[in-house]
Amino acid sequence: MAQSLPRLSVPAVLALGSAALGAAFATGLLLGRRWPSWGSRQQRLLPPEDSPLWQYLLSRSMREHPALRSLRLLTLKQPQGDSMMTCEQAQLLANLARLIKAKKALDLGTFTGYSALALALALPEAGRVVTCEVDTEPPELGRPLWKQAEAEHKIDLRLQPALQTLDELLAAGEAGTFDVAVVDADKENCTAYYERCLQLLRPGGVLAVLRVLWCGEVLHPKPKDKAAECVRNLNERILRDARVYISLLPLGDGLSLVFKI
Ligand SMILES: C[S@@+](CC[C@H](N)C(=O)[O-])C[C@H]1O[C@@H](n2cnc3c(N)ncnc32)[C@H](O)[C@@H]1O
Ligand SMILES: *[C@@H]1O[C@H](CO)[C@@H](O)[C@H](O)[C@H]1NC(C)=O
Repeated sequence: MAQSLPRLSVPAVLALGSAALGAAFATGLLLGRRWPSWGSRQQRLLPPEDSPLWQYLLSRSMREHPALRSLRLLTLKQPQGDSMMTCEQAQLLANLARLIKAKKALDLGTFTGYSALALALALPEAGRVVTCEVDTEPPELGRPLWKQAEAEHKIDLRLQPALQTLDELLAAGEAGTFDVAVVDADKENCTAYYERCLQLLRPGGVLAVLRVLWCGEVLHPKPKDKAAECVRNLNERILRDARVYISLLPLGDGLSLVFKI
């Protein structure tokens, strides 16, 4: 075994206290050093999505509801269709929602509602997905498929800037009541989304941030690439955040999973 990743035992970390843990990360104890031993995955983390191996992975793991599939195919025909979440990402988030018996979910960046519908299908009958969008057209394109899946009543679309909706939820006393939050809207506001979503989540809740590798631009953001800079700042904030456990998965364009302690 050529594994030499630092191993932090959870109780010890908690005993250290969140301030000490945050400080350790902040002083670069673990940040900024070349990570030792990547094992045998030197070249690429995942095969390209059109490779036979990737197709095998999808065909042996995807159980996409027929309405979700129709919504995905319809969305892919739209000009911005590739901004949709990938199917295996949406399935993972839906499964996490099932695992923690989620009833309330937040979805920032509705688009045609692929992630919103995947989450809605994972919630019980009385469950709700509050989904945020500023563009009126894509959700209306998707709505017939939400109906077809008999999940439209679980999808609460808020057509206004996501920050406004999050502030309204906080003002209405809904802090600590959401089980799942998915951050997939504009990147400029992603840190503000992260902080508000974390407040709205209950302990044990799951927060997902999409596109955290930003096509690799996080390594060397070009000057004036505000989005890349924002994503990079959020990634570093999450790394140092002692209120959460984290995983960053190389799915799609990078998916961070943040588990509220
Ligand atoms: C990456 S797409 C979301 C994809 C969607 N989650 C899915 O599963 O297909 C981002 C969406 O966020 C929306 N958006 C951009 N700025 C926003 C804002 N300030 N508030 C809410 N939504 C915003 C865009 O219109 C776009 O539809
Ligand atoms: C960020 O949020 C502000 C406040 O709601 C909004 O005016 C702005 O348009 C958002 N940025 C983007 C790129 O959506």
